[in-house]
Parts: sequence; C-alpha cells; structure tokens
Amino acid sequence: MLASNGLEGLEKFKQNCYDMIITDINMPLMGGIEMIERIRQKDKDVTILIVSAYSDTEYLTNSIKAGIQGYIIKPTSMEQLIEVLEASIDYIKAKQTQKAYHLSLQNQVDRESKKRQETEALLISQSKMASMGEMIGNIAHQWRQPLNELGLVIQSCKSAFERGVLDAQFVESRVTKGMLLIEKMSSTIENFRNFYSPSKNQSNFSLIDSINKSLAIFEGAFRNNDIECVLEYEEGKDWRFYGYSDEFEQVFVNLLSNAKDSLVEHNNFERIIYINLKSVNSRIEIELCDNGIGLSNEVKKRLFEPYYTTKDDTKGTGIGLYMSKEIVHKHLKGTIEAYNKTFELRGKSHNGAAFKITLPHAKEREDAL
Ligand SMILES: Nc1ncnc2c1ncn2[C@@H]1O[C@H](COP(=O)(O)OP(=O)(O)O)[C@@H](O)[C@H]1O
Ligand SMILES: [Mg+2]
Repeated sequence: MLASNGLEGLEKFKQNCYDMIITDINMPLMGGIEMIERIRQKDKDVTILIVSAYSDTEYLTNSIKAGIQGYIIKPTSMEQLIEVLEASIDYIKAKQTQKAYHLSLQNQVDRESKKRQETEALLISQSKMASMGEMIGNIAHQWRQPLNELGLVIQSCKSAFERGVLDAQFVESRVTKGMLLIEKMSSTIENFRNFYSPSKNQSNFSLIDSINKSLAIFEGAFRNNDIECVLEYEEGKDWRFYGYSDEFEQVFVNLLSNAKDSLVEHNNFERIIYINLKSVNSRIEIELCDNGIGLSNEVKKRLFEPYYTTKDDTKGTGIGLYMSKEIVHKHLKGTIEAYNKTFELRGKSHNGAAFKITLPHAKEREDAL
C-alpha cells in the first residue's frame, strides 16, 4: 500500500492494519517523524523503517525517540534494502509467533480456570442438595416416634367411641396428649431450620455447643438405629474456636452421617460413636471414632476425593468428605485426617474408622486473621 505523504499515510494506517511501515522523513503536509509519533500513539508494536537521505544525528535521535526498528540512508543499494527488509520480516514473524503462543496460553489458562469455577460451583450446589436430603431423612427419623403416637391417640378415640366410653374427660386427655406431640414435631422443624440457616458473623463459638447441636440433629436417627454416642472432653478448658459456627457444624454433620451409615452397614451388636476433644500444645484435636466397617486401604486413599463413594446411588454422593476437607483446610485453617483406630470405652475395646480434625486455638486464629 502506498501513500504520497505523511497525512495520507496516517489516514491509511487508521483504516487498515499493517505489519510494516516504510517511510521517508521529508514529505509534504506531514513529515515522517510526526507521522511515526502519531502512529505510535495508536500502535506500539508495528514495525517502522525509515528510508531517508537525512543522515544528521538530530533526525536520527528524533526518529529513535519516536520508536523505529530500522534506518536506511539514501542512496542505498537494492541488496542493502532487501537485507534490512528481510531482517525486519523475520522480526515481525517472531513477534507474531510469540503473540499467538501467548494468546493460546492465555486461552488455555482462562478455559482451565472457568472449568475449575464451574466444577466448584457444581460441587457446592450438590453438597447443598445432599445435606438437604440428609436433613429430610433426619426429620423423618425424628418424626417417626411422635407420628406413631399420634396415630395411637386418634385410634384410641375411635375405639373409646365404639365401646361407649368416650366422655369429655377422655377427649380432653387425648387432645392434650395430641397437642403435646404436635408441639414436639414442630419444634423439631424449628431446630432444623435454625441449624441450616447460615450464621451471619464470625465469632468465638463453643465447639462443645456446636457438637451438641449437630448431635441433636441425629437424635432420632441414632435412637431408631440403636446407636450410642459418647462425647468426652476435659471440663474447664477453653474449647472455643473463632470463625463461622455453621461451617464447623456442616463438617461435623458429615462425619456423623458417615459414621451412622458405617454402623448400620456393619450390623454390630453394639453400635458406638465415640467423640473426644484434646488440647494439644496450641491446637484443639477433635476425634470421632466409630466401630463400624472401618476403612480399607483403597477407601483410605481416596475418601477425600470428590465423587468418591462406596455407597449406592440413593445413599452416597461422595462429596461429603471432599467438602469437609475444603472447609477445614481453607476456611477453618485446620487439618482433617482419616485412619482406623481401636478405642476403649467402659473397659472394652472397639475398632473402626476415626476422623481427626485439628484446629488452631481461638486466640491464635484471631491473631492470624
Ligand atoms: N466412618 C466411616 N467408616 C467407613 N467408611 C467411611 C466412613 N466415612 C466415610 N467412609 C467412606 O468414604 C466414602 C466417602 O464419604 P463421603 O465423601 O461422605 O461420601 P458418601 O457418604 O456420599 O459416600 C464413603 O462412601 C465410605 O466408603
Ligand atoms: Mg457422606
């Protein structure tokens, strides 16, 4: 593409995209130096060569300041011109390859990070769904007993009527009993609702209170499956932790739910969950043991992987422990590990799986934040 002066050159440059510009310095309407300066404002990369008869140093310094890649002094031989042009073309090619490589690298990074974000979002929503399912299952357990009793209350009214003994006093006593049961059921719902509504602020919360809150969620499920749960910790120690209490509770509910599944699967005569808290140096260790099926080597290696489950479709999602580890490591700044363990309770030993959460003490974590 040709232009007969600096102004025309600049106009053409604005409308098109060129790889190289070759210009004279002394031209009508707009000189070469001014044109280069204006082009540089728009494009810092395009290769510019000057072919000019002006050899004095002032022109040379000005053109270097404007940012050129080569300077050819007229008169020049054809060979010399071709040599400079070839060198410039090589330079442009190298720059383009580098640009393309950089772009494809950037694209790859963008794609990977988008994929990661999507997987993360999917996992979070799946773990919410799973804990929803768990919550409904637990409510069902907790309701089973009062629901049965309510059925009996209603039937007793019918049979009393058939036997002709349905008087005011009888009705009164049945209604009182029925209302008590309904209150109990609605307070269960209320407890679950409070449990699953996220805590708004970080605070120094009691780990013991949080553990008891999580255990209350399983009250019905443990009772219906004959699971005994023992919690041990030293009185008078500082068992507080600084953070969002609901995050810790979510982890604990996952561990309890897995222990329950393992105990039910094992079909033990005695089903035990043993929880103990220890204060070791500047850390709190919370260990949860069960005497269920235990961990095979394969399971031990993989149980924190997303989607890893040994349960069937209706029971397992494989995200509980993955999510728990994420929360403990990234949010609570602690660690979680799994192993098989033999534990003593009332002079008898039991063995099964154990999970240990290690957390920094409240004071240190507060300082670290
Ligand atoms: N207390 C435990 N005893 C034995 N195996 C366990 C225990 N906790 C977890 N596991 C194993 O780890 C796997 C992954 O657990 P998790 O991530 O909670 O997913 P899910 O419970 O949906 O299977 C379980 O399928 C089970 O094989
Ligand atoms: Mg689970």
